[in-house]
Amino acid sequence: MKVLVIHGPNLNMLGKREPEVYGTLTLGEINRRIKAVAAETGIKVSILQSNSEGEIIDAIQKADYDALIINPAAYTHTSIAIRDAIAAVARPTIEVHISNVYKREEFRRRSYIAEVSQGQITGFGAESYVLALHALKNILSRG
Ligand code: DQA
Repeated sequence: MKVLVIHGPNLNMLGKREPEVYGTLTLGEINRRIKAVAAETGIKVSILQSNSEGEIIDAIQKADYDALIINPAAYTHTSIAIRDAIAAVARPTIEVHISNVYKREEFRRRSYIAEVSQGQITGFGAESYVLALHALKNILSRG
């Protein structure tokens, strides 16, 4: 079972970026945690961070994974193109957010990605990604 994890724009700045909202872990530390949990759970994981919408879409279109975990960051609220790419490949997808997007500005409540995802995990800090791995493990083992 191969899972692609995509981190969207500005998530490369975690650790320094608004730590009161996103915590103090760097993206490197979060990725190490994702890899450790994936290894324990028997999931092969590959991880991409991109600030570019087109690069994210290209990665989604590649047929080399069974399921997707995506934190589309600000593209969550704007990108019909990422939504359509997820719909086109039709693989199990979990939308993840570090912060609780429903406790924040009104514009963060609109997700174009939720409609094409199995579910959304929001507000658990870096653990949101770990919860998503467990959710996918359950979904994929159900067949
Ligand atoms: C985010 C929430 C988004 O609204 C924001 O634009 C981000 C990060 C999160 O993980 O909490 O960049 O996706």
